[in-house]
Amino acid sequence: MLVFDSGVGSLSIGAEIHRLLPDLDLLYAMDRGGFPYGQWQEQPLAEHICRKILDVLIDHPCDMLVVACNSASTAVLPSLRSQVAIPVVGVVPAIKPAAQQSSSGVIGLLATPGTISRPYTAQLIADFASHCHVITAGDPGLASAVETFFWRGENSPAAWRQAIMHLAEKPRFAEMDTVVLACTHFPLVQQQLAKELTLFGKEVSWIDSGQAIARRVAQLLNESGTTRELKQTGSQEALLLGEPEDSDSLAAVLKNRGIRLLSGR
Ligand code: DGL
Repeated sequence: MLVFDSGVGSLSIGAEIHRLLPDLDLLYAMDRGGFPYGQWQEQPLAEHICRKILDVLIDHPCDMLVVACNSASTAVLPSLRSQVAIPVVGVVPAIKPAAQQSSSGVIGLLATPGTISRPYTAQLIADFASHCHVITAGDPGLASAVETFFWRGENSPAAWRQAIMHLAEKPRFAEMDTVVLACTHFPLVQQQLAKELTLFGKEVSWIDSGQAIARRVAQLLNESGTTRELKQTGSQEALLLGEPEDSDSLAAVLKNRGIRLLSGR
C-alpha cells in the first residue's frame, strides 16, 4: 500500500494503518521536493501529484493508494481516480465527527491555507456542520515547522503558539470545545499545540482522520476479498522524493517507527 504525502504527514496516517493492520506492507512516499502542498494552487497541484504518484507506482506497484494529505486530497481526488487503476483513499478534514461530537457547537478547523480555501472544504462544512460555528484557521507556517522538527530536530514553540493564536483571535473562541487537525502533519505535534492552548485555560477534543482512514482501508480490503499473505508484521519502507537533504534526525525517527529508508528517485 502506498501512503503518499508532501512529507512527514504520511507518518501520522501510516501509523494508524499499521496499528490496525500490522501485516500490511506500507510504502511511505514523501514528496519533499513538492512541499508545501498547502501553498499550491489547486490545478498545478493536482497535475504535480498525479505525475509523482504515477512515477512511484511504475517502480513500486501497489494495490491501494492513500493520499495522506488534506491539501492534496481536497484538490486531486477526481483526476487521480481517473488515472490510476487501484483504489484511492483520500484524507479530508474530519468535520463530520467533530460536528457530531461537539457539545458547544463551536469547532476549530486548523489546516493549511490551501485546504481552508478549497470548495471541497466549504462543502464538507455545509453538508455536515451547518448547525455549528466553524472557526477556520489556515496556518501558512505550521506544516513547515513540523517538517523542521522532524528533519532537523528543531522545536518551534513560536510556530505552535502562532497556530493557536490563529484560532484564539477569532470570535467565539471561548466556546470552542473541539479542534479538527485537518493537515496530516498536525497530529504529530498535537501535544505541543495542546500545551499552548492551556495558556488560554482551555482544553479541547482533538480530532484527526488517522483512525477513520485505517478503518476505511480495512473495509476496502475486506470488500475486495484480497487474500493476504499471513504474516505477523508487514514491511514499512519510506521513499523520499525530490532529492532532499540527508537528515540524521529523520533517519532516527523512521528507525524508531520500524520504517526502512529507501533511496529516493
Ligand atoms: N500534510 C499536508 C496536509 O494534510 C500539508 C503539508 C503541506 O503543506 O505540504 O494538508
